[in-house]
Amino acid sequence: MTSDEAHAPDGGAGGAGGAGEWTAAGPPEFDTSVAHQARMYDYLLGGKDNYAVDRAATEAALKLYPAWGITARANRAFLGRVVRFLAADAGIRQFLDIGTGIPTAGNTHQVVQAVAPESRVVYVDYDPIVLAHARALLTSSAVGAAEYIDADLRDTGVILDQASRLLDFTQPVAVTLVAILHAIPDADDPHAIVARLMDAVPSGSYLALSHLGREFFPPQTLRQIEDLSRGNIQQQFAYRGRDQVTRFFDGADLVEPGMVPVEEWRPDPAAANPGKSALWGAVGRKR
Ligand SMILES: C[S@@+](CC[C@H](N)C(=O)[O-])C[C@H]1O[C@@H](n2cnc3c(N)ncnc32)[C@H](O)[C@@H]1O
Repeated sequence: MTSDEAHAPDGGAGGAGGAGEWTAAGPPEFDTSVAHQARMYDYLLGGKDNYAVDRAATEAALKLYPAWGITARANRAFLGRVVRFLAADAGIRQFLDIGTGIPTAGNTHQVVQAVAPESRVVYVDYDPIVLAHARALLTSSAVGAAEYIDADLRDTGVILDQASRLLDFTQPVAVTLVAILHAIPDADDPHAIVARLMDAVPSGSYLALSHLGREFFPPQTLRQIEDLSRGNIQQQFAYRGRDQVTRFFDGADLVEPGMVPVEEWRPDPAAANPGKSALWGAVGRKR
């Protein structure tokens, strides 16, 4: 059996949005003729949950911008350092991880429950391939808990309502939006989406995110990447500038070192230098 056959989920999550419709209200339908963000990221990380179309789109993107691999690996390492910081240094025990991705090494609940086994983690993603693998995310420690919600980030009411079954919103929560917000176009007002999520959590909660940064790409390369992705990748990306990304943290204080390329956010001195990524990253504490 090829990996293409092995990982096909039973069915799509439904919804109005067909593949290729970036601003559609619904989630991507399961479609192996159009590259998906989750599966391209999996390929860049060396995973097996991707299809020929995802590999071809990624290889074409790598020709234009060879640092996509570094960017994916630096992002995943950032996620690990951030959630470890939140559990170990900030004392957070509740996590709302939106834009989970296909499970791979170092999923959020594994990292934070290694620090504090009682931690509770709610995962959210809207891609049917992630849903098909969600079981791997539900291997919680006995004293903690992990849940998966199949929902679109734009449906904050649904997410908050379902997450409240596991998370106590009177206590601090870490909301992690790692490498997802650039998939939300300006037309869907990503800043208002983040504000609605952060309004639902108390003071002392945290927001952690990474986001593709416009400054990291020569303008000509960016135009070529955008031309390439139009039509053959299920989502287009919004390459936002540092100021726009920093605005997601309105109402929060950034912890040191502030808004930096993800590989510069509290790097692990023992880890190899990953090289330069194309992502801004930061963590902020709600006032
Ligand atoms: C690049 S992966 C990041 C995975 C993980 N957060 C990490 O950083 O390693 C982005 C994930 O966001 C999900 N995603 C994108 N737009 C979304 C939306 N509107 N609602 C829910 N999930 C979304 C994709 O399906 C994909 O699994």
